[in-house]
Amino acid sequence: MEKPVLELSGVRKRYDSVVAVDDVDLSLRTGEFLTLLGPSGSGKTTTLMMVAGLQQPDAGTILLNGASVARLPPYRRDIGMVFQNYALFPHMTVRRNVGFPLEMRGKPRSEIAQLVDEALRVVGLPDHGDRLPKQLSGGQQQRVALARAMVYRPALLLMDEPLGALDRKLREQLQLEIKRVHREREISVLYVTHDQDEALTMSDRIAVFNHGRIEQIGTPEELYDQPATRFVAGFIGDTNLLSGRAIGVFNGICEVETAAGRVRAVTRQTIQAGSAVTLAVRPERIVLTGAQQDTPGIDGTITDVIFMGTARKYVVRLADGNSCVVLRQISDAAFDISAPAVRLSWPADKATAFADQ
Ligand SMILES: Nc1ncnc2c1ncn2[C@@H]1O[C@H](COP(=O)(O)OP(=O)(O)O)[C@@H](O)[C@H]1O
Ligand SMILES: [Mg+2]
Repeated sequence: MEKPVLELSGVRKRYDSVVAVDDVDLSLRTGEFLTLLGPSGSGKTTTLMMVAGLQQPDAGTILLNGASVARLPPYRRDIGMVFQNYALFPHMTVRRNVGFPLEMRGKPRSEIAQLVDEALRVVGLPDHGDRLPKQLSGGQQQRVALARAMVYRPALLLMDEPLGALDRKLREQLQLEIKRVHREREISVLYVTHDQDEALTMSDRIAVFNHGRIEQIGTPEELYDQPATRFVAGFIGDTNLLSGRAIGVFNGICEVETAAGRVRAVTRQTIQAGSAVTLAVRPERIVLTGAQQDTPGIDGTITDVIFMGTARKYVVRLADGNSCVVLRQISDAAFDISAPAVRLSWPADKATAFADQ
């Protein structure tokens, strides 16, 4: 197998009493787009800073193209960086900003001009080279920062919440553009965001951070359909979390008694019979039927129906007082929900059970 571009093993970083990054293992394949996703304070930026060489790990190793970077200063790491606040040089034209890393590397003028033109074309600003940063919008400035970070074709591009300061529409547009640049230039990208939609849209794989640790690494589909922990289930996408008690586990399927009925779910943990569990089930995985059906499931009462264009969202109150959200496509008219009393069920492999701590 090909050597990874970047490999972290056992990486730790502590600031006084705060353990910011706690025993992180991570490997980035050539050409891969890997995102660190997690809430604020979960250690994403610190991880990126250690890769960049702007922070030193307390323990562990970081390999770039198979070689330790421990003794390499940031400017010798062959890494490009884009941060939330563009940090363009305000007194330099766009063209000089983008060409700066090449100037620093002593490239000849003619080559610089050519590479800068190409980079500006890739980010969609071919005619903006003579402007100053302040003559550009926020989104355009961020594209210049992207052009500058990749102009010298680094082995790895680090981006820390690069779209965080932009409004939603522009953010979504730039997500697709960054993706396109990544694909066209075959750049390896380590990306940081706290926005799960952004991570799902852009990434080949996502590492979910929580309290300085990685809870799960996987493709967007794996994280969505097979969350390894309750935290991941709750953090990625919309999910219903229901409490119950395990009756038993047979062949990886956990039978659960809830206040509103008996259901089943996949588990990858060891769960003792009688222990408290949380079930995670996606709104679109729930089948809604009339309460008189003999399919096992949990009973509830519809309290709200929200029309969403292509789908309807049903808010269902369960016997234990908790609410559950069900999403049904308008076209799937298998059940005409006329009475508020309903039964919720799902195929066992469409829900996950986690032991409560
Ligand atoms: N320079 C620093 N000095 C002290 N504590 C820090 C410093 N940088 C980050 N931290 C702390 O380390 C933890 C992780 O921070 P950070 O890596 O910035 O998380 P994220 O990028 O996921 O929001 C937080 O608790 C934060 O307060
Ligand atoms: Mg951060």
